[in-house]
Amino acid sequence: MTRYYSPAKVNLFLHVKERRPDGYHELSSLFQTIDLFDTLDITCCENHDRLAVNDPSIPCDTTNLILKATALFRQKTKSSQYFNIILNKNIPMEAGLGGGSSNAATTLWAINVLCGSPATIEELMTWGAEIGSDVAFFLSEGTALCTGRGEKIHPVPALTPQRSGWIVKPSFGLSTPSVYKHLKLAKLPQNEPEKALKKIIEGELCYFNDLESPAFSLSPPLAALKEELITLGYEKVMMTGSGSAIVCIGLQQPPEREGLWAQKICFVNRNADTWYS
Ligand code: C5P
Repeated sequence: MTRYYSPAKVNLFLHVKERRPDGYHELSSLFQTIDLFDTLDITCCENHDRLAVNDPSIPCDTTNLILKATALFRQKTKSSQYFNIILNKNIPMEAGLGGGSSNAATTLWAINVLCGSPATIEELMTWGAEIGSDVAFFLSEGTALCTGRGEKIHPVPALTPQRSGWIVKPSFGLSTPSVYKHLKLAKLPQNEPEKALKKIIEGELCYFNDLESPAFSLSPPLAALKEELITLGYEKVMMTGSGSAIVCIGLQQPPEREGLWAQKICFVNRNADTWYS
């Protein structure tokens, strides 16, 4: 049995350019992996895939991106290898932390290794993009500018300093399609992702997220939570992805109360030839 660590991500900026004819939105977003991990214990087995999860609310059928990844890998490599996978979930769902996409990417990496590495990392990224917009990013080394619908990966060297802070999430989640549906493109601030990227590489906290306004109009309590966190004096407070998790840069203790989940985090990157550990 080999244990693989499946990281969460935050979006340091997320700029929505336009709505495409296929319904997706054209993005320019800086993604960063963080040290909040699910684990996947994976072994080879015979006849069919088996997936077990520690959280009963997560489906173990073919709607789970892990099983989409194993099926796609067999199809692409013409393999007949099946896998036994035990998923231990720590990354909250409907949070904008990319947990499901990360699980799919980790599965592709792991089963490729278990099968003697028939695919290159570029092939795994292309296949990952068929599973979901964020999957290819999780096969990068942990910092990347993602364009297109999020699947075009432009690697960025690990940021310095690697920031620390907290992820804070209310008990409710937000559905990505409904957040995008509430987006009013004409009303977005004119953020400039190229300038933001340059400043972030220079160490500035030039973060922004165009999905905050639709998420906050869908959920006023989430807007109120962000305002409350700002009063605690963090260096930066911002929703990640399509929410509902909020990333706080700085080490102040977030509020401790029922219905509020909080986890200390740090940016993390993997080495070129190894997975996260
Ligand atoms: O690709 P994925 O399945 O993760 O996307 C989930 C949903 O999020 C899409 O069906 C779409 O409604 C929305 N989305 C979008 N533009 C993107 C990525 C996702 O509108 N770039």
